[in-house]
Amino acid sequence: MTTTFGQRSFARWYPRFMDRVERAGQAEIRREQLALARGRVLEIGAGSGLSLPHYPDELDELVLLEPNAVLRAQLAARTDGPAAPVTVIDGDAHALDFPDASVDTVTASLVFCSLGDPARALAEVHRVLRPGGQFLFHEHVRGSGVRAVFQDLLTPVQRRLADGCHANRDFESLLRAAPFTDIEVAALRMPTRLPTIVPLVVGTARA
Ligand SMILES: C[S@@+](CC[C@H](N)C(=O)[O-])C[C@H]1O[C@@H](n2cnc3c(N)ncnc32)[C@H](O)[C@@H]1O
Repeated sequence: MTTTFGQRSFARWYPRFMDRVERAGQAEIRREQLALARGRVLEIGAGSGLSLPHYPDELDELVLLEPNAVLRAQLAARTDGPAAPVTVIDGDAHALDFPDASVDTVTASLVFCSLGDPARALAEVHRVLRPGGQFLFHEHVRGSGVRAVFQDLLTPVQRRLADGCHANRDFESLLRAAPFTDIEVAALRMPTRLPTIVPLVVGTARA
């Protein structure tokens, strides 16, 4: 698939922007959550690999799926992953090229805001997880009150500037409508001054 101008531009500024956010506390959120990853792990929308250093060494395998070719090249160049075998692949969260029940853990961070059909992608995550397998998510979401109105107004701009990112996505409602069990969600704040992406949900669900 060809890389669009929007994807190339996103791949340039996103890792630099996130560097400050990671140092302000986002990395700690990743580390704490990804300690729960087990077995054969699939990360969807892995981006530039900001989660990579936070996976436990004891995994069986880590597969990093990323459709943006420029970000895939950044992923492939990283050397700070876990001791387990790490593979970087092209792909699409809406149609995962994995058999049913073939993965122990799926992880996603700041991905569902960017998807055209997040409900379909959640169904795909559920399908590829083995029964009882874990979905670990960490997503910026629609807030409430004035912030939500602000997010609605700015979403068309943010979509253009940030490769399709919807500032106002209600991820938790989508997750609760999908066939997961044991859903646990913590409402946190992303340590950034960009108000449209501050509300964060971090949690786990089981297939
Ligand atoms: C905001 S970035 C987050 C990157 C990374 N997960 C992180 O935590 O920094 C959103 C990512 O979702 C990816 N993405 C967009 N559409 C996708 C799709 N259909 N399937 C899988 N990933 C997708 C983008 O290429 C990008 O890497």
